[in-house]
Amino acid sequence: MRPPGRIALDGGLLRRWTPADAPALHTAVLESFELLHPWMSWAAERPEPTDQEELIAAAIRRWEDGEAYLYGVFDPAGEQLRGSMGLHARVGPGAFDIGYWLHAEHIGKGLATRAAGALTETGLALPGIERIEIHCDEANTASAAIPKRLGFHLDRIEDDIPEAPASTGRRMIWIKYGS
Ligand SMILES: CC(C)(COP(=O)(O)OP(=O)(O)OC[C@H]1O[C@@H](n2cnc3c(N)ncnc32)[C@H](O)[C@@H]1OP(=O)(O)O)[C@@H](O)C(=O)NCCC(=O)NCCS
Repeated sequence: MRPPGRIALDGGLLRRWTPADAPALHTAVLESFELLHPWMSWAAERPEPTDQEELIAAAIRRWEDGEAYLYGVFDPAGEQLRGSMGLHARVGPGAFDIGYWLHAEHIGKGLATRAAGALTETGLALPGIERIEIHCDEANTASAAIPKRLGFHLDRIEDDIPEAPASTGRRMIWIKYGS
């Protein structure tokens, strides 16, 4: 069973990617490059438009395969792109981890916290899902604040190879269990 393709938020909408979103995604990554580059391994270089076309094509395929449910974070009408968030089936059975980033103009408003909260509830409501994880580098305090606000507990910190310029390689693993 898959999550819904649209999830309404207070002041926003999570909407499954469509190929038509590629130009807006490319612009958002370019406009937010300084925010993304330190933390996201995929933002090592400024992207070409074809990178986002390929990324969206992969997101559509991965949704169908049940590998990951990736959404754009939009305004309530589903038109203006404000970020990206998704449930990834890569942390073992019965679980998803959530990854996220926002357009630089939309940080500091609680949008990522609301979207991650909605995605946590959506994931935990799926049959067989017992926990949601959020992984972030120990130095990424803005990211770690999100699971903290949402009542996740810090399960452990693992040593990892640093994946992005600001990463220490100390990966925090935050977990929330369903009831
Ligand atoms: C991680 C990231 C999404 C966090 O963005 P953010 O804007 O700090 O998170 P939110 O949208 O939840 O907003 C929280 C901020 O809004 C404020 N806020 C305002 N209203 C709020 C509300 N109703 N609820 C929660 N926070 C609210 C909070 O106080 C906080 O501000 P502060 O950092 O000054 O304390 C963003 O920094 C980002 O995209 N970083 C680059 C990519 C990245 O690191 N991704 C994570 C990899 S693990």
